[in-house]
Amino acid sequence: MPRKRTHLSFVDLRPPLNSLFADVVAGLSAPRKSIPPKYFYDARGCELFNAICELPEYYLTRAELSLMRRRATDMARALGPGCALIEIGCGNSEKTRLLLQSLAPVAFVPVDIAWEQLESSCDALSREFPRVRFIAVRADFSQPLALPEFNLPKVQRRALYFPGSTIGNFTREEAAAFLRHMATLLGPGGAALIGVDLKKSRAVLEAAYNDVQGVTAEFNLNVLERINRELQSDFDLSRFRHHAFYNEQQDRIEMHLVSLARQFVNISGNRFEFAEGETLLTEYSYKYSVEEFQLFAAGAGYWPSYVWTDEAGLFSVHYLALP
Ligand code: AVI
Repeated sequence: MPRKRTHLSFVDLRPPLNSLFADVVAGLSAPRKSIPPKYFYDARGCELFNAICELPEYYLTRAELSLMRRRATDMARALGPGCALIEIGCGNSEKTRLLLQSLAPVAFVPVDIAWEQLESSCDALSREFPRVRFIAVRADFSQPLALPEFNLPKVQRRALYFPGSTIGNFTREEAAAFLRHMATLLGPGGAALIGVDLKKSRAVLEAAYNDVQGVTAEFNLNVLERINRELQSDFDLSRFRHHAFYNEQQDRIEMHLVSLARQFVNISGNRFEFAEGETLLTEYSYKYSVEEFQLFAAGAGYWPSYVWTDEAGLFSVHYLALP
């Protein structure tokens, strides 16, 4: 548990306990079976994701970090003074630290569904930035958010920080709805800094989601382990295989779990059949060109004003302003 600090508070807006059950049953009942990617992030899933970020093949985190090291001051200048910075999906606190150092916001509002990750990163960061008001919010950001009131006197602008290309895990429709919803939360004059993975060769993309050590495979299978534990189901993990590939027509990595045999799975009294070779979709990871993402953001009501890319051209961070 974090120690009590007056400039740090926690707000728990976690989804109802039965949402995992409802989502899994709905996802497995559809003609094309799927499980929402937000369920990857139990404690073990967070650990595995952190390990993925260190993998030689998973270039995203390194590229974004190198970009933040070079450009965080420019990003902070674009955002300006007096910000309340809302971070969605507080994964790697190193990137956030770089931004907070340059920006010195009035308030920092990290939002994530993974409570332990949120607690530990806020605990460390709030020690380093004693002048910043921290309001940590546990919430499911794949649903429309209702943030707690934080009308602090010195806040001049609300700004969104959404790093890590997590926006790529939304379908285009979900991403557009998310950006529009955030625009209402940020209000007129608000701004957003969004990390977006760039399109590149199939070989580089597919290697990033099929690492030789098998960490991504373990991350993918862990969602079944979580469902077994939390819903008393009987997925046999040895009868599913990780499968990730780049779908070039749709500009996305797709992660699936392939059933290795015809089998049945029981989840709290519900029985689901898997054919041999049938796949369970667990994640999309969309890739954009700079121009595509700018057009996309403009369609959601933002002015794409600046974009920064790392030296190897692997990753982008967009600054979007709201009129
Ligand atoms: C969190 N998200 C941006 C990661 C991605 O690359 O889409 C999740 C991930 N899935 C497999 N590896 C990493």
